[in-house]
Amino acid sequence: MTAQPGRQRGAVDELKRLAAAYAAELVEPGMVVGLGSGSTAELVIRELASRMRAGLALRSVATSRRSERLARRLGIPLLTPEEVPAIDLAIDGADEVERGTLEVLKGRGGALVREKLVASLARRLVIVVDDSKLVDRLGERMPVPVEVVPFGWTVPARELERLGGKPVLRLTASGRPYRSDNGNVILDVNFGPLDQPEALAREIKLITGVVDHGLFIDLVEAVVVGGPSGVTVLRRA
Ligand code: A5P
Repeated sequence: MTAQPGRQRGAVDELKRLAAAYAAELVEPGMVVGLGSGSTAELVIRELASRMRAGLALRSVATSRRSERLARRLGIPLLTPEEVPAIDLAIDGADEVERGTLEVLKGRGGALVREKLVASLARRLVIVVDDSKLVDRLGERMPVPVEVVPFGWTVPARELERLGGKPVLRLTASGRPYRSDNGNVILDVNFGPLDQPEALAREIKLITGVVDHGLFIDLVEAVVVGGPSGVTVLRRA
């Protein structure tokens, strides 16, 4: 989904690694860091662990069980959101980044609720991507993931259709409904390219049964982009 035609996976991984290394350098001694989820965020976690081995002290809050397991294995101290009044800096990946606004679409990996909670608790949210994630309009390539409670999930699905979307229940490889770390199911809703992501984000949140969605509006401070000519940092105007 993320690779551009003609670009090899190894080349994309290298761009992610470049961006991840840059973002990990933004962490200062003593910070509480939000650890994102997904392949790019995991590269950041590995970079942070390597900085810790070189003497950097930090504590972290993870956005998924998977990232938590990785951090624990690498010896990064973990806290729960309840244990911290604020997070100094959250670093996470994204599925799409809108060039003009730096609004982002997340949740392909299913961690969107915890990711948004951690982002909301963070003083700064930095997104790390390779340049294939930059789009003119959110929804251009990816559906909007919407986490809903499993009970009566067809009710919010119908409401999402009423908003113009085409919801599909996310399934695992074995064909069962995918369950998030919170025990909920996810509807991947194709709306096509979004004209007004902010308005749609508000409408989706009003639907009964919806826990949250993958549109991260007005949360991002900067986007670190790995591209063939190096790292570019995009900042909100
Ligand atoms: C996890 O739910 C997602 O929001 C990820 O942050 C997003 O899918 C990016 O993942 P990759 O870095 O693996 O592309």
